Amino acid sequence: MRFPTDFLWGASTSAYQTEGAWDADGKAPSVQDMKEIPDGTSDFKVAVDHYHRFEEDVRLFKELGLKAYRFSISWSRVMSNGKVNPKGLEFYKKFIALLKENEIEPIVTVFHFDLPYEIHEKGGWENRETIQAFADYCQLLFDTFGQEVNYWQTINEQNVMALAGSIIGTSNKSMKEKFQENHHMLVAQALVTKNYHDGNYPGKIGPAPNIASVYAASDKPEDQLAAMNMSALRNWLFLDAAVYGVYNHNAWHILSKINACPEVTEEDKKIMLEGTCDYIAFNYYNTMTVSAYYQKENKIDQQSGFGIPDFFQATTNPHLPMTEFGWPIDPEGFRYTLNEIYSRYRLPLLITENGIGAKDQLTEDGKIHDKYRIDYLKQHIQQMYLAMEDGVEVIGYCPWSAIDLISTHEGIEKRYGFIYVDRTDDSLNTLDRYKKDSFYWYQKLIAENGLNEEE
Ligand code: BG6
Repeated sequence: MRFPTDFLWGASTSAYQTEGAWDADGKAPSVQDMKEIPDGTSDFKVAVDHYHRFEEDVRLFKELGLKAYRFSISWSRVMSNGKVNPKGLEFYKKFIALLKENEIEPIVTVFHFDLPYEIHEKGGWENRETIQAFADYCQLLFDTFGQEVNYWQTINEQNVMALAGSIIGTSNKSMKEKFQENHHMLVAQALVTKNYHDGNYPGKIGPAPNIASVYAASDKPEDQLAAMNMSALRNWLFLDAAVYGVYNHNAWHILSKINACPEVTEEDKKIMLEGTCDYIAFNYYNTMTVSAYYQKENKIDQQSGFGIPDFFQATTNPHLPMTEFGWPIDPEGFRYTLNEIYSRYRLPLLITENGIGAKDQLTEDGKIHDKYRIDYLKQHIQQMYLAMEDGVEVIGYCPWSAIDLISTHEGIEKRYGFIYVDRTDDSLNTLDRYKKDSFYWYQKLIAENGLNEEE
């Protein structure tokens, strides 16, 4: 399986889950710094100390052979109360310059779950003023990095924030309030996309939702309809807005039935139509399976889904194995999802997250034997290749994560990286970096630009 020569083999992280230095050099707190941390997990104050160790990390990324690195910029590090923080901006200047020196393409997400706390206190995304605050912040980034960065993403997993915000610590409001927040995010995304296009920068800009094809639990027509409904609310609402600048009709209908329709002005509609994206970045962990709404009990997790009376109810797919953290593993579903997205939108696709969270063990001789990660990634890459043979245009693949980081709500015990970081949820230890078996496997895959039968 050989990939196009310019294929962007990358890896992914986010600012608050890696950087640490939560109050260093003028950085203001974000909602992630202020949220209540679940017992037995870690806060994000030190994370994996990437802020202080970025040079070592880039050396390792280079050794891994990365052609691209997808990371996010921390809004509250570069701006606070509407004022630029020069030291925070300087960090990203040095960082992006170093990536480029090492011929690693920077792929930048401008907002990944870490709203500045001062904005949160003024109502966060529910407050319309946040739209302009976001546009000002993005303009600073475009002015500073517009000639250096070719791939921008507006908002990471806006759909997860809207549908499972209480789990990842971004919002704990009613559906009505959350979909008002969501609407303001859609307008903000469109506004900065328009501003980016008007600025004639050389790169591309797009959204980065978490997209999962939705299977029906059976061939009963009502289960098929449930799958259609969930997909409209969970997936197509977000991509129809980003690509076409309109609300998906079916998602809007569901919102109206649960009294969660946002207020939308004529000006909002205009902005949404004017700021449509150039490509689609998306995160894929697994598919969803739903039935019609039969039960009343819902377990909510950002990947296990949820139910809406009269519309759908998430259920377990008995055909799929699970990770040790209870997420289904569905490589064929990745091919299915890639095809489904491409059939609908016909835009180039960039995978910005895909990976397996596991309790990796560091051996006494400094090794990490993570065969399960190699298996997971290999199966997904094979299915991505098949999707490309199907005719889907995929421009790059950035698994989660380049280096171990703190999970959204399950601590560092749940590791994803190619590079192990010596710390636990109880103790910071040395924070030294170790290369996992998956590091060497991915290094070879990138060097050979694909997979061989026996690998
Ligand atoms: C995505 C996020 O939801 O999945 C990441 O964009 C996150 O920030 C990743 O870390 C894995 O989820 P979790 O909950 O295992 O950290």
